[in-house]
Amino acid sequence: MNAEEVGTNGRVALVTGASRGIGAGIARQLLDRGLRVAGTYRSGGELVGKLAADAPGRVLPVAFDLAAPDTAEALVEQVAGHWGRLDSLVLNAAVWQGGKLVRADPGDWWRVIEENLRSTAALVRAAIPWLAEGVNPSVVLVGSAVGTVGFPGDTAYASVKAAAVGFARSLAKELAPQGVRVNVLAPGFVETDMTAAIPEGARQKIADATVLGRFGTVEEIARAAVFLAEDATFCTGAVLAADGGWTL
Ligand SMILES: NC(=O)c1ccc[n+]([C@@H]2O[C@H](COP(=O)([O-])OP(=O)(O)OC[C@H]3O[C@@H](n4cnc5c(N)ncnc54)[C@H](OP(=O)(O)O)[C@@H]3O)[C@@H](O)[C@H]2O)c1
Repeated sequence: MNAEEVGTNGRVALVTGASRGIGAGIARQLLDRGLRVAGTYRSGGELVGKLAADAPGRVLPVAFDLAAPDTAEALVEQVAGHWGRLDSLVLNAAVWQGGKLVRADPGDWWRVIEENLRSTAALVRAAIPWLAEGVNPSVVLVGSAVGTVGFPGDTAYASVKAAAVGFARSLAKELAPQGVRVNVLAPGFVETDMTAAIPEGARQKIADATVLGRFGTVEEIARAAVFLAEDATFCTGAVLAADGGWTL
């Protein structure tokens, strides 16, 4: 079944971290395609509310904190219960904290691992029964090029992003019998709040090391995520690099 045959009317996506950056871009593009979108926020509820104003009746803003994975099941039930279905799960929100391992506070280091991985597993687990009943169902994990090639000061974050690949590939095999695809998007450096604090000199070095010579935009990364979620009906367990060639 290709994406046109599947259609989008009435289908429901849950996008985490939809208040800003890449998640907001993904939510907007899914709405443009006619899906209904539940967008999670931690502090930016009013920003998800803006999306809702642009697509009346098709956006459900929902609070979710990665630090509270025990609330994942209630979140999924709230979303799927609201619309009676859940077809697509885009796990985009992430906790980032940098710092060289030698100086890292062990508590902070493990917090990055735990909050990201626990919430991922809990959300997916809660969503599986709904996705199994969905149309063109899929899970997209937003990983990172850093999970493949590493970055100084990012041992915890890069571990999470590398784990996303093993998680997705195993899950792809587990859920294939139910027709649920599972893929990873691995962006390079993108213009968002997450990268805003990178000093100018370092930004230039990263741009120079990127084959396309620049950071990516939210719209470009969102297009790649929506491709995996909606169009890539013969892709599962795939890792799509959207990094301008930074990892080449
Ligand atoms: N930007 C890059 O260069 C880049 C590169 C590779 C991969 N990525 C990945 O792309 C994804 C999105 O990144 P971004 O750059 O768009 O980030 P961003 O602009 O900093 O936005 C982060 C989003 O995640 C939410 N969030 C942050 N901490 C959270 C928490 N503890 N619990 C729940 N939600 C939380 C934020 O919600 P509130 O605003 O409501 O708090 C916001 O919606 C992440 O998985 C990131 O690792 C980014």
